[in-house]
Amino acid sequence: MTDAEAVVTSLMRGKRLVIASNRGPAHFDRDENGELIAERGAGGLVTAMSQVLEQAGATWVACPMTDGDKELAASATRVPMPSEDPVYHLRFASIDSQEYDLYYNEISNKILWFDFHYLWDLPLEPSFNGATIAAWNDGYARVNRDVAETIADECRAGAIEDPSSRPVVLLHDYHLMTAGQYVRELVPDVILTHFLHIPWPDPDYFKVLPTQIREEILEGMLACDVLGFHAQSYGDNFLSCVAEVMGLPVDWESRTTVWRGRTIRVRTYPISIHPDGLSKLSASDEVGAWEDRIAEIRGDCKMLLRIDRVDPAKNALRGFQAYDQMLSEHPELVGKVMFFAFLNPSREEVQAYHDYLESTQALVAEINERHGTDGWIPIHLEIEDDFPRSVAGLKNYDLLLVNSTQDGMNLVAKEGPILNENDGMLILSEGCGASNELEAGAIIVNPFDIGQTSEAMYRGLTVTAEERKARAELLVEVVSRNNILKWLYHQLYDIDQFISDEGRDLEGT
Ligand code: G6P
Repeated sequence: MTDAEAVVTSLMRGKRLVIASNRGPAHFDRDENGELIAERGAGGLVTAMSQVLEQAGATWVACPMTDGDKELAASATRVPMPSEDPVYHLRFASIDSQEYDLYYNEISNKILWFDFHYLWDLPLEPSFNGATIAAWNDGYARVNRDVAETIADECRAGAIEDPSSRPVVLLHDYHLMTAGQYVRELVPDVILTHFLHIPWPDPDYFKVLPTQIREEILEGMLACDVLGFHAQSYGDNFLSCVAEVMGLPVDWESRTTVWRGRTIRVRTYPISIHPDGLSKLSASDEVGAWEDRIAEIRGDCKMLLRIDRVDPAKNALRGFQAYDQMLSEHPELVGKVMFFAFLNPSREEVQAYHDYLESTQALVAEINERHGTDGWIPIHLEIEDDFPRSVAGLKNYDLLLVNSTQDGMNLVAKEGPILNENDGMLILSEGCGASNELEAGAIIVNPFDIGQTSEAMYRGLTVTAEERKARAELLVEVVSRNNILKWLYHQLYDIDQFISDEGRDLEGT
């Protein structure tokens, strides 16, 4: 056990941990023999949390996605995870499919994601009406309550197993922003935290949300004891919203506010990755096969890479426009560089995502037509979810482009430097939470400035070997130091601190 792991383990003593998120660490389907088989989930949170559960020991409550998950939810089964060497339990909340659709598609993806990433063209959209409020009441609020009831059940089960321990509930992300209020009603002695994996918008953009929705979100968050954000600016925005929308007092020095007699602490915990876990994975045969394929496609070309979900916030279009401009201004690079874009399909029910993908494909075809030559295509685009392919790409790039308009953290920017074996350069948008930590090693760009991004690409592809090496080493050093255990450690430390302060307050009364 490393020192960090030992600290995490010791901070967990006397506590019962329940983690809750929309998407769990696995989903279940029946195989041809009728057996329920687990499959690893997708998404940044799953990647991050899976790597710390071994140290923490916990129950993970999630929403059911597949028929297998729904069966497990109906029987309230606690699934030991991972099956080969269980260290924690997974429990699915029981949720009606129609309610889930309203909660996930209508509210979380079409409204919250867009608001929190500043994605609307405000003179034209959004327009809210009775259907929005119905989706909120009959979908988002209900699913949050269902999840809270399962969490409460797990807290009670834990109390029977170990009556002296204190329940600690870690809620995750924008899907579960109102669950806190219900959990607090159901489990009065709970220590409650919420960690948001996306940005928190400034008050003007937050206030685009209908009045009922914005107030219930804030009330749900304020039911927690500690609120975690990736970046200080997101926490600042949250506190400004609390002051402006709810009229609550904010102490900017201690970064706290007070609601219904409780003090709520706002903290910054930049999420990260587990460098060792990632490095082990990079040696697999599947990754090796992808590396061979990539080598064959690129030939002698330098490799520019992007890996994202298909999402307007990831800003693929401006990235391709910048590349187009670079090829026009530097024709000497024609035939010498290839842009690999590995895009994972995402949230295809949302029209704006569908349209964005179509525009991306059309632009790529146009650029390939404009600059392509016999035997060379400027952009190699693949739209499919394939984790080994991503790892193979990250091992081999010369230049990685992460140019999201807004991005809570962006873990690709952290995974890349750890996996890369080529002293690869990183272009990173100032709209990504990761830019706070990686600015010294990366080339930072304004994601809206195509000219600047184009220049950064040229620079990234032509810098000296010494500069590449120095920057790559800086990036590896920062990510290795600020790893996922540190992220968890700081949260558990603050929870411990909260419990001690609470004890002191009680003594004083
Ligand atoms: C991204 C965000 C996470 C979020 C996830 C949900 O990874 O950074 O905050 O939880 O998307 O993705 P999903 O595919 O479940 O909609």
